[in-house]
Amino acid sequence: MPLGNILDPALKIILFGGKGGVGKTTSASATALYLARSYKTLLISTDPAHSLSDSFEQAIGNDISPIEGVGKLYALEIDAEEAYTKFQLEHEPELRKLIDTSTNLDEDDIKSFMSMPIPGVDEVMGFKTIVDIIDEANFEKYVIDTAPTGHALRLMTSPELFDDWIKVMARMRWKYRYMVTRFAGDYKPDEGDDFLFSMKKTVRKVQKLLQDTAQSEFIVVTIPEAMALEETKRFLQQLRKLGVLVKQMIINNVMVSEGCDFCRRRKQSQSRYLERLHELFGKLEITTVPQYPTEVRGVSGLEGIVHHLF
Ligand SMILES: Nc1ncnc2c1ncn2[C@@H]1O[C@H](COP(=O)(O)OP(=O)(O)OP(=O)(O)O)[C@@H](O)[C@H]1O
Ligand SMILES: [Mg+2]
Repeated sequence: MPLGNILDPALKIILFGGKGGVGKTTSASATALYLARSYKTLLISTDPAHSLSDSFEQAIGNDISPIEGVGKLYALEIDAEEAYTKFQLEHEPELRKLIDTSTNLDEDDIKSFMSMPIPGVDEVMGFKTIVDIIDEANFEKYVIDTAPTGHALRLMTSPELFDDWIKVMARMRWKYRYMVTRFAGDYKPDEGDDFLFSMKKTVRKVQKLLQDTAQSEFIVVTIPEAMALEETKRFLQQLRKLGVLVKQMIINNVMVSEGCDFCRRRKQSQSRYLERLHELFGKLEITTVPQYPTEVRGVSGLEGIVHHLF
């Protein structure tokens, strides 16, 4: 069965996730290539070990670049660490103000507090880059290639983590505000309050986008092997807990040829995992992609995968 729903104009964001090495980047790249036939499409990698450049055999980086030879396809490799450094530099004064007014910490304590990582913030800032790009509305479709399971889960939980941090800061602010009002009779919101408010808005926006099933879809990629099967089971459970609805799955690297002894044995070994995958995930729509004899690279290589996915 081909991947469904992808061409629906309401669907804006398609995320691909799964265990390491199962074909997430290949599936995301092929889907973006297919979409670009009808829509202006941006393919985004959130994996710190970016591989879109390898997949398309051309340099792609932290700036949106057109994919050579494909009309409406663009790509971007997001650097979450850089987005976070930018965030720190940009918001240092507000952060400092928040900590300074809400705690009894001395200068040294404040310095160490400032150097502590804020939970989820780097991923949220990576997402913020995506949300900002979507706001600019220069593209009709966004395809997101994520890093292996654990990282993708961190990415998806980052809005909640960061939101918890904002809540704690807001509570401290509230106490500060109460004290100021009591002693000075009046409280004027300052840049610390503005900062918390704008961060809250960013988190809400990211959450809304990810939870809107008409606008975004998360597709899980796996392969017919024991370890991938187990990891996929856990991954889907975790995604469900996060409220991410998964409707479609790609089983990649399926052996079809029986032309040699190796192929026959491989096919046989895969068949029970294929069966088990269909049993376990029968409610999902499953698309299978055969294993190619060579690795899949470049536009022409990816076109083969497009043919199987769609
Ligand atoms: N159906 C296929 N047949 C043959 N080779 C494939 C197939 N799908 C993917 N590959 C190759 O397998 C390798 C891994 O694929 P890919 O990079 O898409 O996986 P990934 O899940 O993104 O990996 P990572 O977790 O490292 O990001 C690549 O060299 C790719 O060309
Ligand atoms: Mg990858």
